[in-house]
Amino acid sequence: MPSPVLRRALLLSTLALACSAQASKPLVMGFSQVGAESEWRSANTASVKSAAQAAGIQLKFADAQQKQENQVKAIRSFIAQKVDVIAFSPVVESGFETVLREAKAAKIPVILTDRAGKVSDPSLYVTFIGSDFVEEGRKAARWVLEQAKGGKALNIAELQGTVGSAPAIDRKKGFEEVLKGNAKLQIIRSQSGEFTRAKGKEVMEAFLKVKDGKKIDLLYAHNDDMAIGAIQAIEEAGLKPGKDILIVSIDGVRGAFEAMKAGKLNVTVECNPLLGPQLMQLAKEVVAGKAVPKRVTVEEGVFTADQAAKELPNRKY
Ligand code: AHR
Repeated sequence: MPSPVLRRALLLSTLALACSAQASKPLVMGFSQVGAESEWRSANTASVKSAAQAAGIQLKFADAQQKQENQVKAIRSFIAQKVDVIAFSPVVESGFETVLREAKAAKIPVILTDRAGKVSDPSLYVTFIGSDFVEEGRKAARWVLEQAKGGKALNIAELQGTVGSAPAIDRKKGFEEVLKGNAKLQIIRSQSGEFTRAKGKEVMEAFLKVKDGKKIDLLYAHNDDMAIGAIQAIEEAGLKPGKDILIVSIDGVRGAFEAMKAGKLNVTVECNPLLGPQLMQLAKEVVAGKAVPKRVTVEEGVFTADQAAKELPNRKY
């Protein structure tokens, strides 16, 4: 039987070991990604994964395959696993309230990233880091206004993103806000292409087949992937994308720069997917109990076809 002094010394060293193990335990983040629907999304996933590794954060990554129910399931599983922090990009804006309440009850902080969600109680998430999608829509529309200088009329076709998603709702809103009251700039067709190339092509084919006598002069695509799909459809219809039909889209991925360089896309509004490093920094601060801003935005630009060749080698995604 060790002496009381020895017993105390043993107890203290056990406690010290436990504390140091706790201190070196990596922060665990549960991350529910939208899917792999676009070039933008792949760049975002790569950024999150590499930034987690660089920050020494253990990442539990789940791909929702563009389905809300998969995201809810993943968040519930992160709660059951008692992760330190949950981050996710909501596939659609609404319908996450219940699962967010469950995370709050389990005292697990939630960070929204890329896409915002609509909740009646803002305390259900700590912070949101992502682009200003309404402003992106406005930027696209300002470029359209420049093309219509001198009172030129333009018939516009719109390829919307995923129905109910923040970027689809906000990019439409910002675009229409700027064009409002201009009778010569009409959106004559508008449908979702689900942010994918395949669907963008399919919907554009359908747009071009409608025989209502109205020619499409300009395409506004809520992302580059749908624009790239549409470019194929336009070429297959015997028309010249970028000339017979002007095209403006959003994201600024390499594929868009290549299309601009080839003269097939006129302009892309940047939406930065490289959110990983900022997200990991925020996660560390949130878990440490530090105060963080409720909204963190990202700086972005607009690129036209004449800048494409020079810019292409600098693109990081
Ligand atoms: O939420 C960001 C949007 O989602 C990107 O613009 C699009 O490419 C992606 O699928």
